[in-house]
Amino acid sequence: MKQFNIGIVGATGMVGQRFIALLENHPWFHPVVLAASPRSAGKTYEEAVGSRWAMDTPIPEKIKKMVVLDAVADKEKIAAAVDFIFCAVDMKKDEIKALEEAYARLECPVISNNSAHRHTPDVPMIIPEINPEHAEVIHAQRKRLGTKRGFIAVKSNCSLQSYVPALHPLMKFGVTKSLACTYQAISGAGKTFQTWPEMNDNVIPYIGGEEEKSEQEPLKIWGALKDGKIVEAQGPAITTQCIRVPVSNGHLAAVFVSFEKKPSMEEIKKCWAEFSGEPQRLGLPLAPKQFLHYFEEDNRPQTALDRMLEKGMAVSIGRLRPDSQYDYKFVCLSHNTLRGAAGGGVLMAELLAAKGYLD
Ligand SMILES: NC(=O)c1ccc[n+]([C@@H]2O[C@H](COP(=O)([O-])OP(=O)(O)OC[C@H]3O[C@@H](n4cnc5c(N)ncnc54)[C@H](OP(=O)(O)O)[C@@H]3O)[C@@H](O)[C@H]2O)c1
Repeated sequence: MKQFNIGIVGATGMVGQRFIALLENHPWFHPVVLAASPRSAGKTYEEAVGSRWAMDTPIPEKIKKMVVLDAVADKEKIAAAVDFIFCAVDMKKDEIKALEEAYARLECPVISNNSAHRHTPDVPMIIPEINPEHAEVIHAQRKRLGTKRGFIAVKSNCSLQSYVPALHPLMKFGVTKSLACTYQAISGAGKTFQTWPEMNDNVIPYIGGEEEKSEQEPLKIWGALKDGKIVEAQGPAITTQCIRVPVSNGHLAAVFVSFEKKPSMEEIKKCWAEFSGEPQRLGLPLAPKQFLHYFEEDNRPQTALDRMLEKGMAVSIGRLRPDSQYDYKFVCLSHNTLRGAAGGGVLMAELLAAKGYLD
């Protein structure tokens, strides 16, 4: 496989740190540029990230001494030095839109964890096991941008990374409606218990903008490619409540679902066990062998026990049972900064590299 020099924009943040840890021994992608805000620019990565480093493994030696660039002011230099960038920054939405488009116009593909472009119709929002064919819209986007290589592809929100994969293989039974309550980790806000002590022994029933994203983004993922755009699906109807809980990593969801043609519990479990997608077929480096794992034990999945399943890239499901208001209910879990953010971004980049979009 071709080797790629990559940049991490937002390298000092929670998701940026995950990219650094994940790419330490990646067989195809090699970080050669790290960028963040003017606060970090000019410092070595070790100085810039300081006590914010929140990964279980130490900062890779090679990364420690790299000098951080300014993601905005140095964008020409960065674009010239890399084959593509991963982008995860905490900036205003219109600033992120402009920044990502500027990199794409500099012929530098952008694999983004930010929400700014998720509803731009010719920007694909890809969960590699579910909608890899949406990558084809990149041809139309390049035409609009006037680029040969440059484009933007985005990852969906971390909140839906457990229940959309769990619902997807069941769509053939005609999912009519679903309700999901999510119990979301503090790393989803870029925080740790040190930086957010108010979260100890606490639950906060509000995460700004999260419920809208959790209800709307699945419709783009299940949308269809038409005339150079992704046209959003009309259903199923999804309603959510998103709640912040005192957990370091891992978003859990309690899900209810109804169908046009109600399957049996055994049929549902068989669909989950047999489901696999393009990443498994292509043998991509970060692809989990089994994407959806069903636990028969009543007390699983548990956030602390199961979030790292298959290096944090699998989805754990349990407690499937009939419901009195909906057909069924179940619980599912995914790691928010791995499958839900950096890991999902790396897997998407692996898919796009394997399909030639990053050549
Ligand atoms: N955490 C998650 O689980 C998760 C999941 C999915 C998506 N996301 C998305 O990923 C993005 C980053 O989230 P995060 O949790 O990693 O945030 P974070 O920990 O707050 O990190 C933010 C990063 O953005 C950089 N930054 C801030 N202002 C900037 C500016 N003006 N110019 C350039 N860089 C700037 C910061 O650099 P400095 O260190 O120099 O300030 C830092 O590297 C957000 O859009 C978020 O919605 C996060």
